[in-house]
Amino acid sequence: MYTTWNWFLGVLHLVTWGSSSTLLTIYAMPPQSPVQCSTTGGCTLYNSYGVWGDRKDCHAPNVTYPTTEQELRSVVAYANQNKLKVKVVTKFSHTIPKLACPTSNSEASLLVSTEKYNSNIVVDKDNLVVTVDAGVGLREMIDKVEEAGLSLVAAPYWEGVSVGGLISTGAHGSSWWGKGGAVHDYVIGLSLIVPARPSEGYSKIIRLEAQDPLLNAAKVSLGLLGVISKVKLSLERGFKRSVTYNFTNDDHFEDVFMDHAKKYEFADITWYPSKKTAVYRYDERVPLNVSGDGVYDFIGFQSNLIMISKSIRATEKTFENTRDVKGKCTLATTTVAAKKLVSNGLKNGLIFTGYPVIGQQGKIQTSGSCFYSSSSFSTCAWDPRINGLFFYETTAIFAAPKFGDFIRDVKKLRDLNPENFCGVDVYNGFLIRFIKASGAYLGQSEDSVVVDFNYYRASEASTPRLNQDVWEEVEQMAFFKYGAKPHWAKNRNLAFLDVQHKYPNFNRFIAARKQLDPQNMFSSEWSDEILFGKEAANKGDGCALEGQCICSEDRHCSPENGYFCKQGLVYKEARVCRYSHSLSDNEYFYGIRY
Ligand SMILES: Cc1cc2nc3c(=O)[nH]c(=O)nc-3n(C[C@H](O)[C@H](O)[C@H](O)COP(=O)(O)OP(=O)(O)OC[C@H]3O[C@@H](n4cnc5c(N)ncnc54)[C@H](O)[C@@H]3O)c2cc1C
Ligand SMILES: *[C@@H]1O[C@H](CO)[C@@H](O)[C@H](O)[C@H]1NC(C)=O
Ligand SMILES: *[C@@H]1O[C@H](CO)[C@@H](O)[C@H](O)[C@H]1NC(C)=O
Ligand SMILES: *[C@@H]1O[C@H](CO)[C@@H](O)[C@H](O)[C@H]1NC(C)=O
Repeated sequence: MYTTWNWFLGVLHLVTWGSSSTLLTIYAMPPQSPVQCSTTGGCTLYNSYGVWGDRKDCHAPNVTYPTTEQELRSVVAYANQNKLKVKVVTKFSHTIPKLACPTSNSEASLLVSTEKYNSNIVVDKDNLVVTVDAGVGLREMIDKVEEAGLSLVAAPYWEGVSVGGLISTGAHGSSWWGKGGAVHDYVIGLSLIVPARPSEGYSKIIRLEAQDPLLNAAKVSLGLLGVISKVKLSLERGFKRSVTYNFTNDDHFEDVFMDHAKKYEFADITWYPSKKTAVYRYDERVPLNVSGDGVYDFIGFQSNLIMISKSIRATEKTFENTRDVKGKCTLATTTVAAKKLVSNGLKNGLIFTGYPVIGQQGKIQTSGSCFYSSSSFSTCAWDPRINGLFFYETTAIFAAPKFGDFIRDVKKLRDLNPENFCGVDVYNGFLIRFIKASGAYLGQSEDSVVVDFNYYRASEASTPRLNQDVWEEVEQMAFFKYGAKPHWAKNRNLAFLDVQHKYPNFNRFIAARKQLDPQNMFSSEWSDEILFGKEAANKGDGCALEGQCICSEDRHCSPENGYFCKQGLVYKEARVCRYSHSLSDNEYFYGIRY
């Protein structure tokens, strides 16, 4: 999630619009546990954005917190013996789709948390390998690895995740060099606890080594094959990086992205369509003896004062309610300017003093300082306890040769009215990253380009959003016109439609699941919905608003609020919910007839 608010932007808002947040509620930070149990009602699983719990559909009678591999094994045996469905949850629960939700027949299910299964981090310096308990946090692992003078090459940009969770959903940073930007491509061994016959004690531990074909299924498994207990990752000798951002115009970036990715080991590009700005990240390795003690403390992952997060949300809501596109554009301008000024959160030391910023791999690749906030007044901007930011995140993974045409289409849509794109530039624009071809069955079979964009999500599912037709069209273009694959840890449900046919080794994954978990103990209707990506037979009223369906009738949008099901403006096959005052108005909405 790449929200962009920092304190000084916030202060600006307070000055500009005044603060409507009158009360500061005092909370004990850091983040609350994703599993909340009550004495009467069992346990509810929330993700870090707090979105599942409300619907009462992510629920189990009980949760358990094993601390050792043997305890994990006993839990799986117990569940197998008692025919319970099992879902593994983490301390972090940062995944957006409901992969970790157990069956809605909640009486026969059990949540197994890895929160307390996190004590072992074993670095083998000679062999350049680290082996960890699956519940270990990414940051703890990286710090141990760096202490030993080594570096983990790939990691997601957000560090508040567990090692087991992040590989399970294919999490990645950005690189087309070496093994590439996806963490699972550095997995060289993994232990999996799966159900077994009574004679074997109802569960067993399988140790998968690098050559085992099952490892290709287990590296990215969405939690569907069993409980991952140990993960072994390959490392390199410690290194530093030298990073420079170039904020420039967005001409031709769709023609040069491949050269950029080939030239810089950790290249990425951030595109702000409404601002016609592309930000190239020039990021390469330098030896350890080059001076520099820089860090990347990404601005969107820094702590925010709670009152500021609330006030920004209130401002955003006002723009939404008053259909104030210009207001959003002002906000986008301020945001991009602020990010340029502070180089997105790169710091040479305590502050940013100039490019390049040079620092240790462990301090540059991934960040998340808001996660450790010790103050009662500040936290991550999206903390669900504070009514702060609330947004969608669409993440589409393209075969590299198709990406340029996708951007050309988005530019056409943008050029019809650039202001319609201010809503993403208020967040982090389009973040464009690179991952290499992988042997993982649910990983990318070819060199790929990943694009992420965030945009406002209404607090009420039934409330349509400003310019939502634009995001819907881009979303449908990505997933259906260009056949992009959805990131398993992000996206709205419609992005997963037909996903099984996009992975050439999908059937091998299913075969592995049959072998390891013949009773589908680790699957639920919620994870099936993602894995098999089928649209609901009965499309309910308003289902397109939250991405539960693609509209085919006006009632799937929100006709009472003036949102009707219309065709796309550039991608005509798209079906999107578009606002119009009246029919004739709608026909000329963009000054063109369509
Ligand atoms: C602010 C933010 C920024 C992000 N940035 C990036 C990014 O830069 N790149 C990127 O690729 N992703 C990114 N993500 C997504 C994130 O990497 C994934 O959501 C990741 O899976 C979260 O890890 P987790 O430990 O919270 O796992 P969870 O969300 O708790 O679990 C993920 C899945 O794995 C399963 N699972 C977890 N542990 C085990 C285990 N031990 N055994 C079996 N199954 C298990 C769960 O059942 C679930 O299905 C970001 C997310 C956020 C919130
Ligand atoms: C939940 O599990 C714990 C042990 O993990 C057990 O002591 C407790 O009785 C269980 N609660 C219910 C309601 O099943
Ligand atoms: C930034 O990028 C533009 C366009 O590619 C290029 O012309 C310019 O030289 C770059 N600036 C720096 C400082 O690298
Ligand atoms: C760094 O070390 C290498 C040898 O390992 C040496 O060639 C180089 O000059 C050193 N650079 C600096 C800046 O000290």
